[in-house]
Amino acid sequence: MAEAKEYLFKILVVGDLGTGKTSIIRRYVHNIFSSNYKSTIGVDFALKVIQWDSDSIVRLQLWDIAGQERFGNMTRVYYKEALGAIVVYDVTRPQTFEGVTKWKNDIDTKVSLSEAWGGGQIPVILLANKSDLIQEGHGQHVNPTELDQFCQDNGFIKWFETSAKDNTNIEEAASHLISSILKLQ
Ligand code: GTP
Ligand code: MG
Repeated sequence: MAEAKEYLFKILVVGDLGTGKTSIIRRYVHNIFSSNYKSTIGVDFALKVIQWDSDSIVRLQLWDIAGQERFGNMTRVYYKEALGAIVVYDVTRPQTFEGVTKWKNDIDTKVSLSEAWGGGQIPVILLANKSDLIQEGHGQHVNPTELDQFCQDNGFIKWFETSAKDNTNIEEAASHLISSILKLQ
């Protein structure tokens, strides 16, 4: 039998304060959710090991970067050797959408793929998080046509409306990012 291929992917998770980065990671890795808000300080790490297909294993190393770090000078260090990124905003707070382009620019100016991965920009997906609150009358659903255009204009590979609370689309978003990285080879 052929040996299983093993990959280690470093993934950045960024976005403004309180948009749900830590909650998305905890849902994805541990399948738990808490409504208590404890702001991340600096950076946290999580690892998820995925049996991607019959002969490949992907180790996802998730870098949960505090929202306030956009105003610090450590992101260049944190971004080093990342192969993909997730930018998160909060659908109930439009000002966090303004943070999206700022985070994307920060990524694009500070990290790129190595030659082994084809060079160029790392794949980045956009998450419109807290979609469960829309049903409760807060914020509104994204306009798919507008967000498609936004992604095209700003170099995001795809967007997803997610809820860490309800576990909506998180698995799908992560899988899309992983398959995009695998296609770079
Ligand atoms: P920083 O670490 O400060 O940058 O914030 P963060 O982006 O890690 O946000 P965090 O995951 O800590 O979530 C902030 C608050 O939003 C917490 O009270 C969470 O419970 C809440 N929250 C996160 N995701 C969701 C969601 O999908 N739905 C709802 N209703 N609340 C959410
Ligand atoms: Mg956090």
